Amino acid sequence: MFLEHFGFTRRPFTREMPTEALLAMPPFEELAVRLQYMVTSRAFGLVTGEVGSGKTTALRALYDQLDKVRHRFIYIADSSLNPRAFYRDVLDQLDLPVPYHSREMKRQFEQAILTAYQQEGKQTVIVLDEAHLLSAKMLQEVRFILNFHLDAAAPLTFILVGQAELRGMLRLKSFEAIVQRVQMRYHLAGLDQEGVAAYIEHHLRYAGATRPIFAEQAVQAIATLTRGLPRMINNLAAACLLDACSRGQALVDEATVQRAAAELQETTGLAAVGSPW
Ligand SMILES: Nc1ncnc2c1ncn2[C@@H]1O[C@H](COP(=O)(O)OP(=O)(O)O)[C@@H](O)[C@H]1O
Ligand SMILES: [Mg+2]
Repeated sequence: MFLEHFGFTRRPFTREMPTEALLAMPPFEELAVRLQYMVTSRAFGLVTGEVGSGKTTALRALYDQLDKVRHRFIYIADSSLNPRAFYRDVLDQLDLPVPYHSREMKRQFEQAILTAYQQEGKQTVIVLDEAHLLSAKMLQEVRFILNFHLDAAAPLTFILVGQAELRGMLRLKSFEAIVQRVQMRYHLAGLDQEGVAAYIEHHLRYAGATRPIFAEQAVQAIATLTRGLPRMINNLAAACLLDACSRGQALVDEATVQRAAAELQETTGLAAVGSPW
């Protein structure tokens, strides 16, 4: 009923959008270009952004675009990561045996990355997502990984991705050595009003909509309430569609947005993570 009501062929505002269908405009496009650059220049990169701004989605797109013959992509999102678990995880993902002793693990890790490059022509790309949750001990270990990275022969791209507080964490004196080595950084900001309009339009079109569904003032209200953060836009826009549908309205107007926002706030605090479907 919901799909028919709006003439959709699939549900809009879900997180499952294939990467080739993603919206390619600033700031998403700016981040994509920088991620590509980090890979081609084997850089150490730092990416920050508010929760739900599109960081992990950009990494998913980077992975899909990478030439798998020439790159190995290792993605880790584990808040309780410690150095041992890091080396174990990397070696595991590379299908290599995991030695018991930490020092041996590190040696294997370096060896594996060098061998992959020298013998198979494969460059390793390591991404630590949710890095703002990492312990000081793990961040200190990043220094060691970067030491290896400095070695001219090291064919490694290393990217730390996390919420804005990651920058604050790294400002501590003990992490100075890490910060000094960041070769490229990017902060993914929320969309501006125009961006929010394009975002909503894009997701609606992807769902098969053939007519405008959100009134201009509704879009403005969504932009203000969500600060332009995609995951919040998804949640609020989806709630708006349900509200309009249940009332038999063809159009989402400003009143719909206010009602949907009030309801979301009550049930999830609006900043809720994840979409209703
Ligand atoms: N370029 C994009 N085009 C379309 N939708 C996007 C794009 N980037 C992010 N999104 C939407 O925003 C949601 C949240 O993004 P996500 O990458 O999970 O945020 P973060 O990792 O910063 O918390 C995604 O599920 C997706 O629906
Ligand atoms: Mg994420």
